[in-house]
Order: sequence, then C-alpha cells, then structure tokens
Amino acid sequence: MNPLAIDELICVLPKAELHVHIEGTLEPEMMFQLAERNRIKLPYANVEALRAAYHFEDLQAFLDLYYSGASVLVTEQDFYDLTLAYCERAHADNVVHAEIFFDPQTHTARGVAFVTVLDGITRALADAHHKFGMTSRLIMCFLRHLSEVEGFATLETAFPYLGRLHGVGLDSGEKGNPPEKFARLFARCRALGLPAVAHAGEEGPASYIVDALDILKVKRIDHGVRCTEEPDLVHRLAQEKTPLTICPLSNLKLNVVTRLDAHNLLDLLHTGVCVTVNSDDPAYFGGYLNDNLLACREALNLNDDDVVTLVMNSFEASWLRDVDKTRWQDEVGRIALEWENRQEAQ
Ligand code: ADE
Ligand code: ZN
Repeated sequence: MNPLAIDELICVLPKAELHVHIEGTLEPEMMFQLAERNRIKLPYANVEALRAAYHFEDLQAFLDLYYSGASVLVTEQDFYDLTLAYCERAHADNVVHAEIFFDPQTHTARGVAFVTVLDGITRALADAHHKFGMTSRLIMCFLRHLSEVEGFATLETAFPYLGRLHGVGLDSGEKGNPPEKFARLFARCRALGLPAVAHAGEEGPASYIVDALDILKVKRIDHGVRCTEEPDLVHRLAQEKTPLTICPLSNLKLNVVTRLDAHNLLDLLHTGVCVTVNSDDPAYFGGYLNDNLLACREALNLNDDDVVTLVMNSFEASWLRDVDKTRWQDEVGRIALEWENRQEAQ
C-alpha cells in the first residue's frame, strides 16, 4: 500500500484523543504572550531559546520545565485561551472527541483558585462544542509526587464542581510513587461515582500497571508500555479489554523508548490489546495526534488496517455513550471503505 495514501487516510479519519494534558498544550508562543499579559518573567530570552531547552533526559527533567512553564497560567481567560487553542489544533487533525487531563494542584499551589482553572477550561470546551461539534470529557489528575492527604484536600476543593468532572487520573513522577499510595483517595472517588484512569508503566515497572488495575480499579491505563515485561499482564489486558492510551512521540522524547521503530505499539495491537495513539503534551514533544500517527506509520510501517483499528480503538476506549461510539465507528468504517475503493480505482 502506498505510504502517502495511508498518511492521507490518517488525516481524514475522525478520531478521539484520550490522553492529553491541557497544560502540555501550552505552545512557547502562548507561554510568552501569557507571561507578558500577567507580567511574569520567564527564564528564557525568547521562543527560540525556550524551544531549544526541550531536550529531556527523562520524565522528571520534562516535568521540571513543564510545571515552571504552567506558572504563566493565572486567569480564567488564560485557561480559556489555552484550551480553545488546543481544540482548534485538534479539530484541524479531525479530532472529534477529546478526553482532557488537567492538574489543579499545579495551579492551586500558586494561589490560583480551582474554580478559575475549571471555569476557563469548561467555557472553552463548551465553545469548541458549539464551533466544531467537538465533544469532550474532563479528567482531574492528582499529582503523584504529592501526598494522598494533599489529594484528599484537592478532592474536597473540587467537591462543589464534581458535576463538571467526568473522572479522575494520576500523573507526574511515577518512580517511587506507586498506585497503592493513593488507594484510599481512589476508593473515595469511586464511591463518589468518578471513574478512574492512571499513568502506569511509563517509567514505572509493570507491577504498577497491575496495582493500578487491582488497587485503584482504573478503567484505562495511560501509557502502560512496560506491560510487555510481563507476558501474563499483556494477556490479561487483552482478555479484560483494558485500553492503553499510548503516546509514541512522548515515549521517544522522554527516552521511554530509544527509537520509534522499537516501540511495542504494533506488537500490542496485533496481540489484541486495545491500544490507542495520543499526544500527551504535544507542545513539548513535537506533535499533535496526527503527527503521532504519521510518525508511527513511518517508523512501524503501519498498514491501513492497523490505522483503522487504532482509530476504532480510540472510540472504543473513550467514555462516549455507546450510541455515539457506534456512530463514530460506523463513520470511520465508511470513510475507510471509500478510501480503499479510491485506491483500487487508481
Ligand atoms: N504529566 C504530563 N505529562 C506527563 C507524563 N508523560 N507522565 C506523567 N505525568 C505527566
Ligand atoms: Zn500523560
């Protein structure tokens, strides 16, 4: 199959994005604009100097820069502008549904009110729905380098607004911060009816994936790429249909994999695990959703069936209602068939 034609298929298919941190969509240009608007001095001379600093040895090196970059986000309008810019960029990639993480603790620790963050994000998501028909879910993440007590305090602050949240997640530095550290917090969230996801098996061991499933009772694993260190776990993920939201360019940038052609995405897909492709922190890792799919197509030699399965999985693994999942999957099937017929006619 002509690789350029497959790239066209990647671009035209409607897609769901299930793993994107809104703070990770802060492009350097916007970081400078917001710094100026809020009279904050950045430790970089200009956009080029900032971009030149985007070489990360590991997850922690990235997180240090990422949390300091987020300090330019202060007002409700800042969070609105950030979120709407992501939605516009995602819409250009034919993302029709996005499940978005935000890290309230990164902002409340600096004195920004929880409701300021939430109002800005949700106003932009409502506007994106009106403008583009894009649907979304909002997932509140707890920072795992902080304590469980601090997580409970955040849940308490969020309590009046739970109707605007669709679930909870767990992110930040994985090493030394196992899922069990948050067992009681996630049990409380479950009791409140909030479904959970967690980053696991990105830098942490495969056992963190098992613990996220068994202790935190998560519905999806974010990253999860180290599952292949435990063949029984891969079998379990496939059997139980637990999705992995994989972020290939992130994995490459953070040295989770040394080369994209050595990524286990395709092996997992062919083993029957419900893997999806996502962008994580696209402003920092060199690409949005289509860039991730295109890079995988090239490095892993994805064929049209692989692409269609990955895109079908993005809806399957989403928190859309079943009728909406089916509607989008039918649409993906229809567009893919049209594309195939066109290829045969050429
Ligand atoms: N927060 C933002 N991006 C992250 C990642 N890749 N892993 C853990 N926490 C994150
Ligand atoms: Zn992530």
